[in-house]
Amino acid sequence: MILIIDFGSQYNQLIARRVREHHIYCQIEPPDITTNHIKSLKPEGIILSGGPSSIYEKQSPKIDTAIFDMKIPILGICYGMQFMIGSMGGVVKRAEKREYGFAEFNIKYKGDLFTRVNTPAKCWMSHGDSIDKLPGSFKITASTLNTKVAAIEHKKKKLYGLQFHPEVEHTPQGKTILRNFFFGVCGCKRSFTMKSFAKNAVSQIKETVKEKKVILGLSGGVDSSVTALLLHRAVGKNLTCIFVDNGLLRKDEANKLKATLKQNLKINIRFVSAKNKFLKPLANITDPEKKRKIIGKIFLEVFENEAKKIKGAEYLAQGTLYPDVIESISAFGGPTSVIKSHHNVGGLPKKMKLKLVEPLKRLFKDEVRQLGRELCLSEELIWRQPFPGPGLAIRVIGKITRKRLSILRDVDDLLLEEIKKAGYYNKLWQSFAVLLPIKSVGVMGDMRTYENIVAIRAVTSKDAMTADWAKLPHKFLGILSNRIINEVNGVNRVVYDISSKPPSTIEWE
Ligand code: XMP
Repeated sequence: MILIIDFGSQYNQLIARRVREHHIYCQIEPPDITTNHIKSLKPEGIILSGGPSSIYEKQSPKIDTAIFDMKIPILGICYGMQFMIGSMGGVVKRAEKREYGFAEFNIKYKGDLFTRVNTPAKCWMSHGDSIDKLPGSFKITASTLNTKVAAIEHKKKKLYGLQFHPEVEHTPQGKTILRNFFFGVCGCKRSFTMKSFAKNAVSQIKETVKEKKVILGLSGGVDSSVTALLLHRAVGKNLTCIFVDNGLLRKDEANKLKATLKQNLKINIRFVSAKNKFLKPLANITDPEKKRKIIGKIFLEVFENEAKKIKGAEYLAQGTLYPDVIESISAFGGPTSVIKSHHNVGGLPKKMKLKLVEPLKRLFKDEVRQLGRELCLSEELIWRQPFPGPGLAIRVIGKITRKRLSILRDVDDLLLEEIKKAGYYNKLWQSFAVLLPIKSVGVMGDMRTYENIVAIRAVTSKDAMTADWAKLPHKFLGILSNRIINEVNGVNRVVYDISSKPPSTIEWE
């Protein structure tokens, strides 16, 4: 495995992705990790990430410098390299010119990292400091016009550094450089596959849970479905899943899901219909955070009530993914600021004294999909686009009424039909409609109309942390708009959302 030390770089998840792409297991840990903990993880190599700090700032993140003597190969990227050099007697200074964006590097000495790399080569720089003086035994292996020390090597100690970012697409030969580090220097093997993951996860769950009972909230999304399959392999009939219909699902979704889940998972599932419990307290609520809080609270009540019926349940399984975990161990302490309070069953384990099982917490979304395939989940469930827990409540902007939900359901249904027909469904992270709280004037068959507006949102993304609006062809958008206005009563205008995340978010509320 490769251990990644998080010095706060915005590219950390990308580094992890690059490692995983080579079928090597990796873990991201904060800089206060102890050397004993590192030893216990038995990494073949360590990557020290970049970060926004300067090594001379008081509050800058630091790792125990004993790691440089642990005889584990280390690659420092940007801040990571500067930290390594600063702590070994070198000098890091404010660069005369801040370098941000493309640069071109030339190899001074091939060393271990530049096998099969051709220069001059493009690379991506993003730094305000640079190395002014190297400690003895380090060699400069590459330079750019503005940065003399763009890459370094200490062959004997197997310590390496890059001022540029090999993990980003803008460094086209970055993958080759990383591959040289993983395989040439660290001697990693391509052994991390979803088959091996499934085998290990099942035996770990068995060891933890033993003969005890486990409950799982099933939403019909890929994460909870894959969690259910893994758990079922490990504990069989001791797993009970609970599916709550909150009345905020898409058109006919509860029935469709019921059929798909039953057919696909062949697992003990309790379906709970609780529409009124959710819709009543939501009447007259327009504030998105209030909507979420209400839905979260009622979900907890309904789930708890149902879970109580499962005698002897000791564990609660959740489909938490790695990006959620990484967010909460960031170098700069704790979760990033709350943009939206996503609801999950977080309060439940404490309240019911349940212990958590989170078998996917080291995986990224695309790996979860691969794992789903390994566990024979149907393609339909594997490729289901994410759907938020609060459902259509946060897509009906403003007041939630049965009428407005029904309009949105019809639009959404038609939209997904067209998206699937045109072959876009699996290529998009999400595609959905939003019902706006304003009306507009239109003209239909010589008559004035004053009806609702819907916005269409379609985005591409790898992990929902960032997203781009999908460049769907105008012709396709035209067909969609025509069908929606003609076929859904109560809508006379369709707009397309062309905002990316950041600065916008994927959902409107
Ligand atoms: P945003 O809108 O924050 O969404 O860019 C990122 C991803 O999270 C989903 N989402 C939610 N999921 N509860 C959920 O379970 C929520 O309250 C919630 N809000 C947003 C959203 O659909 C997207 O995939």
